[in-house]
Amino acid sequence: MAATPWLLLLCLILAAGGVLQARAQPDSKGFISVDCGLQGETGYTENTTKLSMAPDNGGFTDDAGTCHNISAEYVTPLMGKSWFNLRSFAAGTRNCYTLRSIVPGLKYLVRARFMYGNYDGLHRLPMFDLHIGVNFWRTVNISSPFAAKFVEVIVVVPDDYVQVCLINTGAGTPFISGLDLRPLKKTMYPQVTAAQGLVLLTRFNFGGDENTGIRYPDDPHDRMWFPWVNSSSWTEISTTRRVKYEADSPFEAPMAVMQTAIRPRNASHNIEFDWEPQPQANDPSPGYIIIMHFSELQLLPSNAVREFYINLNGKLLNRDVMRPPYLYGQASYNTFAIRKSYYIVSLNATANSTLPPIINALELFSVIPTTNLSTNSQDVSAILVIKAKYQVHKNWMGDPCGPGTVMVWDSLTCSYAIASPPRITRVDLSSRGLNGDISSSFANLKALQYLNLSNNNLVGSIPNVLSQLTSLTVLDLSRNQLNGSIPFGLLVRVQDGSLDLRYGNNSDICTNGNSCQLPTKQRSKLAIYIAIPAVLIVIIVAVVLFCFIRRKCQGSINNSVRPRNEMMTSYASGDDLYGDGSLRLESRQFTYEELKMITNNFERVLGRGGFGYVYDGFLEDGTQVAVKLRSHSSDQGDKEFLAEARILTQIHHKNLVTMIGYCKDGEYLALVYEYMSEGTLHDHIEACGRWWKSR
Ligand SMILES: *[C@@H]1O[C@H](CO)[C@@H](O)[C@H](O)[C@H]1NC(C)=O
Ligand SMILES: *[C@@H]1O[C@H](CO)[C@@H](O)[C@H](O)[C@H]1NC(C)=O
Ligand SMILES: *[C@@H]1O[C@H](CO)[C@@H](O)[C@H](O)[C@H]1NC(C)=O
Ligand SMILES: *[C@@H]1O[C@H](CO)[C@@H](O)[C@H](O)[C@H]1NC(C)=O
Ligand SMILES: *[C@@H]1O[C@H](CO)[C@@H](O)[C@H](O)[C@H]1NC(C)=O
Ligand SMILES: *[C@@H]1O[C@H](CO)[C@@H](O)[C@H](O)[C@H]1NC(C)=O
Ligand SMILES: *[C@@H]1O[C@H](CO)[C@@H](O)[C@H](O)[C@H]1NC(C)=O
Ligand SMILES: *[C@@H]1O[C@H](CO)[C@@H](O)[C@H](O)[C@H]1NC(C)=O
Ligand SMILES: *[C@@H]1O[C@H](CO)[C@@H](O)[C@H](O)[C@H]1NC(C)=O
Ligand SMILES: *[C@@H]1O[C@H](CO)[C@@H](O)[C@H](O)[C@H]1NC(C)=O
Ligand SMILES: *[C@@H]1O[C@H](CO)[C@@H](O)[C@H](O)[C@H]1NC(C)=O
Repeated sequence: MAATPWLLLLCLILAAGGVLQARAQPDSKGFISVDCGLQGETGYTENTTKLSMAPDNGGFTDDAGTCHNISAEYVTPLMGKSWFNLRSFAAGTRNCYTLRSIVPGLKYLVRARFMYGNYDGLHRLPMFDLHIGVNFWRTVNISSPFAAKFVEVIVVVPDDYVQVCLINTGAGTPFISGLDLRPLKKTMYPQVTAAQGLVLLTRFNFGGDENTGIRYPDDPHDRMWFPWVNSSSWTEISTTRRVKYEADSPFEAPMAVMQTAIRPRNASHNIEFDWEPQPQANDPSPGYIIIMHFSELQLLPSNAVREFYINLNGKLLNRDVMRPPYLYGQASYNTFAIRKSYYIVSLNATANSTLPPIINALELFSVIPTTNLSTNSQDVSAILVIKAKYQVHKNWMGDPCGPGTVMVWDSLTCSYAIASPPRITRVDLSSRGLNGDISSSFANLKALQYLNLSNNNLVGSIPNVLSQLTSLTVLDLSRNQLNGSIPFGLLVRVQDGSLDLRYGNNSDICTNGNSCQLPTKQRSKLAIYIAIPAVLIVIIVAVVLFCFIRRKCQGSINNSVRPRNEMMTSYASGDDLYGDGSLRLESRQFTYEELKMITNNFERVLGRGGFGYVYDGFLEDGTQVAVKLRSHSSDQGDKEFLAEARILTQIHHKNLVTMIGYCKDGEYLALVYEYMSEGTLHDHIEACGRWWKSR
């Protein structure tokens, strides 16, 4: 007999009654039942199970997709209300339902339901993929417009939410009619682990009423048990007595299922069923888990024996002889998935057996790996807050980072490691029309390296918490309406060269005299920050010493110390540079050609600062200089560049760094500082010392 009828099985009759408030939260049993495409605020109670069905507007899909009714010609009088409507997703590659408020680490049964019913009037049966979180679940092939299709998976859910995603693979518009989530006990289905899930192929109740399936409340976990009878080859056996499984048995088929069984019509025959492996897109030879439920339903006379072997493809599947216990459930199952090219299960009576074999129920699963990790949960929480705040909708569905780089959310970049969850490393929300202030949730993206919020309508001040992002190297806030001062923490990062901060073309950052001033307290902190490092103290002492010696030198010998260039004016106070937004640099102006000569065609890089590289150079008179050239790829405006220069010079100690001049030549912008490395100072002191000695 062929074991394909589950594909053709029609739906259980689910009829509808009363009206309930919408329920996006699990009910008291931990169940979530969604009637996809049901419009309005209110759900209803489903007639046979008395479970409350929630409409799927709002929370579940972020308003993605559109609601449809199936065509009238496919509505039958006994059809349950939940099949009348569905939600389809014509836009986007991936659209997801998010089921929330669940317990991380527990096992859940997730079931999706589909009935096409020519809802779109196109008579085009679609095929699409389902993902459970970031893992492939299965391909859904809608094979008939009136077939009600159930697709089920049992998985360990790692987070306090789980997403069911419909993937458009180019073979038709994905849709869904219903979605259920049911918690299972930890002890159930031990084959399900954090790394492996079970996809249901079929769950049969042998000998049950041909017209009804069994589910909640008969099955407290609301598994669906489909009837399978075949009167031409099997005889049904049933009892009205209680049939139970031991407490905490891993499979626990419900009593209503265990109360019926079949035996071969011809008592000298065996029970046999078969199926063919169903290759999946990512697994051509899926592994199977077979769970069989047995219970003796007849009180056997003392001289009668019912015992049988369980064979797969003619070989023992289970070495133990099965003797079903009277009115108790017993399961036979494999722990590790079996992979064969065909499957024939036969229950063969032993030689001693006086009675033919029986079977009460069968569950057949294929295994899927669930090893792909979802994005770091703190990153997910933060990006969801950001998504909600700025109403970013485009493509932001499912897991932000995966699976794979194809599914990554538009505007994000992630990093992947083998054993740890992906992290969000880059966020580029430039030119997205963002309104409001800068969300402090950006500071919760702890692995963020690049944040571009330029060219939006952001207002308010720059949050200081951003300086907690230790990996952040680029922060572009230019072209917004931000105001206030730049937080101290960020200034420090800019100063030490670890952060490229851009904030040009904002309404009121550092251009307005008052808002631009660093508070006095911060200044003194800044001074401490600068003064404390021992190396700097040594340098200061050395400079003082050097200046003292230099004065002595100057008086005595002509060539040992360079004369100061008249065009150079020491850059005394940063506050004057940019006080009213205009340039007040009275230093020497260099052309780009001159800079090229000074730096020997930008030969030696001293380091990389906030806005570009810093090059080593020598003026005509031999003064060693540091040339900070605005990076060519930078889109930083002149004002920003000079404001940044102002910050840099403010932070640098006046005695240590002297600004010699600047370059503003076409697109080129550069600042030229006197450069005194320890070595140079040492050399000078050495030179003077030699002179003293030679006197
Ligand atoms: C019932 O059993 C007969 C004989 O084994 C088989 O030919 C037939 O296909 C079965 N029917 C169903 C619906 O499985
Ligand atoms: C469902 O219940 C309602 C009210 O209890 C009743 O009117 C309706 O006929 C029932 N539907 C079915 C299919 O039993
Ligand atoms: C579906 O049918 C219901 C009535 O049964 C109606 O209220 C609703 O507007 C219909 N929805 C669509 C999308 O046509
Ligand atoms: C999908 O179902 C249709 C109709 O049953 C069938 O013809 C087709 O081969 C199936 N496609 C795949 C890839 O299984
Ligand atoms: C039962 O099967 C055996 C062997 O296949 C056969 O010889 C016998 O006639 C069958 N009995 C009936 C009642 O069909
Ligand atoms: C079990 O019975 C089937 C026929 O029902 C037979 O083909 C098979 O060889 C038997 N297996 C064993 C191990 O006896
Ligand atoms: C059949 O019964 C005999 C006698 O009770 C016993 O010795 C033998 O082991 C049994 N065989 C099997 C396969 O159970
Ligand atoms: C895991 O993600 C990769 C893409 O990176 C994908 O190809 C693969 O199918 C996924 N694995 C599962 C089990 O879904
Ligand atoms: C930020 O985005 C804008 C617009 O896409 C782009 O021009 C600019 O170069 C980006 N900033 C950085 C630092 O990459
Ligand atoms: C910045 O702008 C907001 C309005 O956008 C205003 O409420 C706030 O007072 C301004 N802050 C400063 C320091 O100007
Ligand atoms: C700033 O605005 C001015 C005038 O609108 C424009 O010319 C300049 O390119 C802008 N700078 C940046 C960095 O966007």
